[in-house]
Amino acid sequence: MANVVSICGSLRKGSYNRMLMQSLPGLAPPGMAITEAPPFTEIPLYNADGVIFCTPEYNFSLPGGLKNAIDWVSRLPGQPFAGKPIALQSASPGPLGGARVQYDLRRMLVFLDALTLNKPEVFVGSCASRFDEKTGALTDPTTRDFVKQQLAAFAEFIDRHGGAKS
Ligand code: FNR
Repeated sequence: MANVVSICGSLRKGSYNRMLMQSLPGLAPPGMAITEAPPFTEIPLYNADGVIFCTPEYNFSLPGGLKNAIDWVSRLPGQPFAGKPIALQSASPGPLGGARVQYDLRRMLVFLDALTLNKPEVFVGSCASRFDEKTGALTDPTTRDFVKQQLAAFAEFIDRHGGAKS
């Protein structure tokens, strides 16, 4: 069993990245439990097997609030990101789906000695058309499929890198 915590990089009401994040439990492979972290304004210390960031791209990089939260966590005793399996996802109304923020986030995670999954990558471009406007559900079949593939790969990655097993 892999226990994974998901963190949303956006505090916006109606956030697409939160919608993406909320679709994850329904798309996870058997044996992966995904728990949503509270907004990063009140982020506590987690002892999870892995972390998934679903974050928007702001000005080609990380939202300031998310950067600040990572900076705080990185100074906690034991440096919680060290050796932690991490997966990245981003959603954007633009065509690239937030590709650039992921590479900035990856670079930070290198310094923090995190174990970031390389592939498959999840970039949800033109995101407004991928979710149900009313319910916020991730409805686009292609997107659901590649999110599913990443979560399956992440489950194996956690297993290989020493996440808790049961
Ligand atoms: C953006 N947005 C944006 N989009 C993008 O693809 N690349 C970018 O560099 C930026 N820059 C940017 C800066 C700022 C300050 C804002 C407020 C927005 C648009 C952004 O992707 C869009 O607002 C998303 O909907 C934000 O994600 P949530 O809040 O829907 O999860």
